[in-house]
Amino acid sequence: MFKRSSRISSVRVFVRYAHDIQISRTGKPILRSGPGGRSSLTGHTATVFGANGFVGRYLVSRLAKQGTTVVVPWRSEDAKRPLKVSGDLGQVVMLEFDLRNTQSIEEAVRHSNIVYNLIGRDYETKNFTYEDVHIEGTERIVEAVAKYDVDRFVQVSCMNANPESTSKFYRTKAMGEEAARKVFQETTIVRPAAIFGAEDRFLNNLGSRKSIFTSYRNNRYVRPVHVVDVARGLELLMFDDSTAGQLFELYGPNEYTMTQILDLVSKVTMRSSWRFDLPKPVLKAMARVLDKLYWHIVCPDEVERQFIDICYTEGAKKFRDLGIEPTALEMLALKYLRIYRTSSLYDAPPSREEVQDRYMVD
Ligand SMILES: NC(=O)c1ccc[n+]([C@@H]2O[C@H](COP(=O)([O-])OP(=O)(O)OC[C@H]3O[C@@H](n4cnc5c(N)ncnc54)[C@H](OP(=O)(O)O)[C@@H]3O)[C@@H](O)[C@H]2O)c1
Repeated sequence: MFKRSSRISSVRVFVRYAHDIQISRTGKPILRSGPGGRSSLTGHTATVFGANGFVGRYLVSRLAKQGTTVVVPWRSEDAKRPLKVSGDLGQVVMLEFDLRNTQSIEEAVRHSNIVYNLIGRDYETKNFTYEDVHIEGTERIVEAVAKYDVDRFVQVSCMNANPESTSKFYRTKAMGEEAARKVFQETTIVRPAAIFGAEDRFLNNLGSRKSIFTSYRNNRYVRPVHVVDVARGLELLMFDDSTAGQLFELYGPNEYTMTQILDLVSKVTMRSSWRFDLPKPVLKAMARVLDKLYWHIVCPDEVERQFIDICYTEGAKKFRDLGIEPTALEMLALKYLRIYRTSSLYDAPPSREEVQDRYMVD
């Protein structure tokens, strides 16, 4: 008797209701099952290009954990492996692809109802220029999306994307947006500001003093955004078809100058910031030499970007429109920068100034 009742209580019965069926933008049924989270299904299938990158990992984790089937197109065996455990068995589907191989791209998108393109590169390599990655790559993906009548396409670009920009990175990002909208008008464009998090290239570069030569214009304005907020925003787009065809600019709640950020980093890491502020031509000349090395340190276009303030587009949607309250950099700086403290100070509590900054107390 006891055995029977324990067996019955361990069986989870999912009752389906009419509101579990959603009709997608193109009229396809999406059938949800379960209460949400592990062992549930959202009914969505998402392809995430750039899944093993910094933002991609957070996005795949959020999607798969909620029960979305995620297709991960990969080009590096080792880099994609950790994504496999983001969801239940069979929830994360790996497919090898090449950005120049149309057939492999089509295979990756044809069963999905939403495609995210997070492919991007901060610097050019001998195999791929900015145009190859940001424009031609996007064109191939969006053409496959249109061919297989995928419901939604989300193009991840960046703040300051502008066809007139002095930075080639920003120009090609803007041209990628245009290319996507030309083929698939309902493309949702997402422009995040500089993203910070555990594996970022923003706080880690400053904390590790990778950039001891900083730009002469440290009064440049930035508005860093937390990677978890960006991933959450991208996930929410999938559930809200009214976001199709819109432009989102995702940035943190506070605007800082680079000098303020350098001071914050030095306060949190409890190390004096020895840095040399150099003018643009000198930094560019140094970057040109370093760019010739086999491994990436800095490229001239990254120097150019260090001199461009964050600028906003009128009418663009924000975190507020997705119901997200973004987290401020100073709330999480200790979490991500503690590793750059010396071992004797590793566990030291936050300084008085840090507490004042974080909780805005006098
Ligand atoms: N991180 C930021 O601060 C920031 C700020 C604003 C906008 N964004 C944009 O947000 C997107 C994601 O950023 P992220 O920080 O996650 O970038 P990331 O860490 O550099 O990852 C980029 C992804 O793109 C893939 N990729 C690059 N070139 C490729 C190529 N030629 N063929 C196939 N795949 C290629 C990479 O694959 P492999 O790992 O195989 O190389 C990786 O999965 C990018 O478009 C970026 O421009 C980032």
